[in-house]
Amino acid sequence: MTEKKFYLTTPIFYPNAKLHMGHAYTTTLSDVLVRYHKLKKDKTYFLTGSDENTQKVVAAAKAAGQEPAVFLDGIVGNFKKLFAALDISYDQFIRTTDEQLHWPGAIALWNKLVAAGDLYKKEYEGLYCVGHEAFITEKELVDGLCPDHGTAPEHIKEENYFFRLSRYTEEIRNKIISDELRIVPATRKREILALLDEGLQDVSFSRPRHAASVGIPVPGDDSQVMYVWCDALSNYITALGYGRDDVLYQEFWQNNPDKMHVIGKDILRFHAAIWPGMLLSAGVPLPATILVHGFITSGGKKMSKTLGNVVDPEELLAEYGTDAVRYYLARHISPFEDGDLTREHFKDVYNADLANGLGNLASRIMQLAQTNLAEPVKVEWQPFPPEFQGAMEKFEINKAAEYVWSRIQSLDQQITETAPFKVIKTDPEKGKSLIANLVQELALIDLMLEPLLPQTSLKIIEAIMANQKPQNLFPRKD
Ligand code: MSP
Repeated sequence: MTEKKFYLTTPIFYPNAKLHMGHAYTTTLSDVLVRYHKLKKDKTYFLTGSDENTQKVVAAAKAAGQEPAVFLDGIVGNFKKLFAALDISYDQFIRTTDEQLHWPGAIALWNKLVAAGDLYKKEYEGLYCVGHEAFITEKELVDGLCPDHGTAPEHIKEENYFFRLSRYTEEIRNKIISDELRIVPATRKREILALLDEGLQDVSFSRPRHAASVGIPVPGDDSQVMYVWCDALSNYITALGYGRDDVLYQEFWQNNPDKMHVIGKDILRFHAAIWPGMLLSAGVPLPATILVHGFITSGGKKMSKTLGNVVDPEELLAEYGTDAVRYYLARHISPFEDGDLTREHFKDVYNADLANGLGNLASRIMQLAQTNLAEPVKVEWQPFPPEFQGAMEKFEINKAAEYVWSRIQSLDQQITETAPFKVIKTDPEKGKSLIANLVQELALIDLMLEPLLPQTSLKIIEAIMANQKPQNLFPRKD
């Protein structure tokens, strides 16, 4: 049997500021999916990284009074700390300033676009939003400002290389309609198809070196550097060795039908139009799936310092621990729509679902086992219940988690209804078998918890194997 492969990427993050809850969400959602595939015994590769060749980073380093390289190392170090605290099991962290790992592939891809006749130079005049790292039209402005960033765009007149994206409109459209390039959920598929219906415009793919100040030099033209998005999108294949060392690239991209990008809704156009266009032009296979999640708000509003509603992932992690944060993000944020997180709701959910729910159940069952069984229950292998598997296959990690918690609830009920603590006094054999059943059920729940709450899952299975009540998994918070 040939082994199934699964390649998953997160967006690469701009290291101009620390990561927030939205970034923690993208990464946690990704990690849950990768861990699920690992449990299915697929061979997985999980990529994340940072998008460093941008003006934002230069500006942020300047504001911090640091050399860009020093500034970047500091921020990227913090990204990795946050990912460690969230237990993100990535295989590689790519940095687009990495001249050994990223640049050769970005240049090779550029050369393919040139060979296809898809890059041409043209004078361009327009408005540029540094927040988006993209050109913006007059029409999109509100009171002269970018509505997303609240900043005035720069007026730019310069020579750029343009990518003939317009040429690929039909091909991309057909691949999205047929789901050869699957955009999930359907609302996002419709959104991108509506854009494709209007026809794609050619896009600027380079900036003059003096204007961009950082970036990968355009091969054969030292006066230009690659445009941020052209450079950034290519990370998904350069990290695997495209244009440099083919082993991982062949295994996880070229010959792997199951490759997916997880992204937020604001960067759909780049991933579902520009990136497929680049790949088609270069003759490189397209990703199979783009999963597009929504935005996290707090109290229904965008998190912002002025509103004082920012919930910082580091603070939550310090207070509640890794698995509590993973749990909230997995279960209480829909991967397909905008989701909300407030401290109050987080605490309520923590106490109800984790302290009273899972924590209490594991401790009740293992207390019974420890007191009444002479040795550990030999847990039998059980397949994933179809409800759980079905939800996971559709990337509905919130529904999968909801199902696990419904099993937690029924198991709680089963203890009350079968009352093994009473039965054991009158019929010890029957009592023991009831308890062994509970442990068996707990083990199945534990298996489903692995992708969601890996540390807790490990603690519970260790407790089962040692026939011992686990330490207090989720202490109540007042
Ligand atoms: N560097 C680009 C991505 C390049 S990928 C080739 C970028 N970086 S980012 O740091 O601004 O954003 C990274 C991801 O975080 C994006 O998927 C974005 O959608 C997501 N989020 C940013 N704010 C968010 C929320 N408030 N909620 C959920 N996700 C959000 O874009």
